[in-house]
Amino acid sequence: MLPPHPKKEHFLLKNAYYVMKDKTNFFFSQRKEMGHTYLITSPFRNTIVTSNPLYIKHVLIDNSKNYGKSFAYDKLSMLLGNGLLTSDGDFWRKQRRLIQPAFYKEKLVKIADTMIVETQAMLQDWAKKADTGELVDMSFEMNKIALEIVTKSLFSSQLKGDMSQISHYITEVIKYGTARIDNPFLLPDWLPTPYNLREKRCIKELDKIVYDMISERRSSSERFDDLLSMLMDTQDEDTGEKMSDRQLRDEVITIFMAGNETSANALAWTWYLFSQNPDKLAKVLTEIKDVLGNEAPTMATLRQLSYLKQVIEESMRLMPPAWIMGRKTLAADKFGEFDIPPNFNVVMPIWVVHKDPEIWENAEDFEPERFAPENMKDKHRFAYFPFGGGARQCIGNNFAIMEMQIVLAMVLQKYHLTLQENYKLGYNPLVTLRPQNPIMMQISNR
Ligand code: HEM
Repeated sequence: MLPPHPKKEHFLLKNAYYVMKDKTNFFFSQRKEMGHTYLITSPFRNTIVTSNPLYIKHVLIDNSKNYGKSFAYDKLSMLLGNGLLTSDGDFWRKQRRLIQPAFYKEKLVKIADTMIVETQAMLQDWAKKADTGELVDMSFEMNKIALEIVTKSLFSSQLKGDMSQISHYITEVIKYGTARIDNPFLLPDWLPTPYNLREKRCIKELDKIVYDMISERRSSSERFDDLLSMLMDTQDEDTGEKMSDRQLRDEVITIFMAGNETSANALAWTWYLFSQNPDKLAKVLTEIKDVLGNEAPTMATLRQLSYLKQVIEESMRLMPPAWIMGRKTLAADKFGEFDIPPNFNVVMPIWVVHKDPEIWENAEDFEPERFAPENMKDKHRFAYFPFGGGARQCIGNNFAIMEMQIVLAMVLQKYHLTLQENYKLGYNPLVTLRPQNPIMMQISNR
């Protein structure tokens, strides 16, 4: 028996019409109406949704061999190619083994230094703004710092060109990617429609940044100890071949996008949450004063910023940057009594699980204390999974937590931030969960 589907169906587009109309509300309202596992009917491809942590564990860990990346990821391959996020099978396994060491703990020590230097530069940039009290777009600023951190720490490169242009291209390609996933009526990407050509132009601009980084490195005589060198030096065990420029491009652009967009959104949301929860902010400030004083963080002091870490975890519970994940079945499977056919889409709305009132008390409230280890010990592994899980868990999870701790702590040591009056909270659930309206804040010296 297939899971049941919502009764309300559009005559042509069936349930899918209501997903396209209002994604955010659809998944939350269906959790209430249909339970945690149901079917979304569509003239194109039916999809099973589950927010049951047991079934999510089944997909991501227990029976993960039976699941590939979902059809949605195919739609992202125009941008990401066959990089780590979109590839599958033996090829993915080989690439993951190769890239993983760049994120080992000992590498993170050096990366932390880069994060600190980049954050210091941002703080200096803000000095004038703090004096004049001008409003700052924190969504943009967090994108900028996250992008600079990724490029500098993993590719030892400095972004050239106008940051607002780069940010514009990134936003556009994410919008195009999301539209391809959401709108089955879009014409295939190989057709030279004005829409497709616009998308290709944006991808080309980002490609230029990446190919420039690669060619600069090829022509440099300097030795670098970073991810880009690892990727360029590696040789295939069987053939002895090095990675082609195209494969290098796919891996670099994947890390560039995955490592920037998610952390930037998590940071922007956290600033918003601080503005709404001054008592929690006060607790963080006390912790920063006690642990860091006016000093820059170190690996050792970061470990002591445990309340700040809980704040970050709670922020990603309420506003998970990766708000939904998907897989497709290879062979038929079962979720309890439900049959899951082969070659079928399964989506796991992380956001819905994170706000499920059956899992979380006061699910809508910002309560970082719930992440104290003693309060989490009875929670299911997949009650909270902002970084996914199993073999394909986010490769940058420790990088991201460290980055967020450093940026938040260093900004708070120096500046006081006030949210623009009448700010209207809204969500823009693209591939990542972005704020609908830029988070505008006034900066003043602390
Ligand atoms: C708050 C920050 C971040 C969040 C919430 C996040 C979330 C995720 C999630 C949910 C996945 C799993 C997707 C799936 O299984 O379908 C993932 C995978 C991935 N993430 Fe992250 N991520 C973050 C930061 C980063 C950073 C900083 C990097 C790199 C510098 C990164 C690189 C990647 C890559 C390459 C994958 C694919 C891994 C694989 O399939 O082997 N992410 N991320």
